[in-house]
Amino acid sequence: MPTAAPEVAQRELEAHERLLIDQAISRYGKRPGALLGILETVQSANTHKYLSMEALRYIAGETGIPPSRIYSAVTFYALFNLEPQGEHVVCVCRGTACHTRGSRDLLEKLCLDLGLNERESCENCEADKMALTTGDRRFTVRTVACFGQCALAPVVEVDHHILSHVNERTLQREVKMLLQGRK
Ligand code: FES
Repeated sequence: MPTAAPEVAQRELEAHERLLIDQAISRYGKRPGALLGILETVQSANTHKYLSMEALRYIAGETGIPPSRIYSAVTFYALFNLEPQGEHVVCVCRGTACHTRGSRDLLEKLCLDLGLNERESCENCEADKMALTTGDRRFTVRTVACFGQCALAPVVEVDHHILSHVNERTLQREVKMLLQGRK
């Protein structure tokens, strides 16, 4: 059943945002998978790597695809974001293999180091669907249900690079390098 998009105060899209969406729509046309291609193009062109409600409404208006279908696609696929993302994205796997090898501790320590309150923010959300961004928008910490690399558990992805057999020390070192702008 399609998920209803939340009501959000509307803002006008800038001319360049509309142009980008128009170009994506004409590039993908009515091909199978066109919607996903359009959404991916629009998100990757956004500075904060997310899809605003205004962009989704505009895509719906221009393609004739019902807004509820677009919203369902965006919420179904983990690659789409509805909130602005941090400059660096650290994604911790919370699947069974990674969990049994300590991913929960890795996640808690990471959130603590970055000043994110993971416990409080996860009270009402599923453990495999967390996404928190630091106030300065430098880091987004996310969780994923499984990377499909269970033999390498625990697995953490840092800015699209998969790290295997991660421990607290290696993760801290990665984050420190990002903080120091060495990556
Ligand atoms: S459970 Fe972590 S990669 Fe599969």
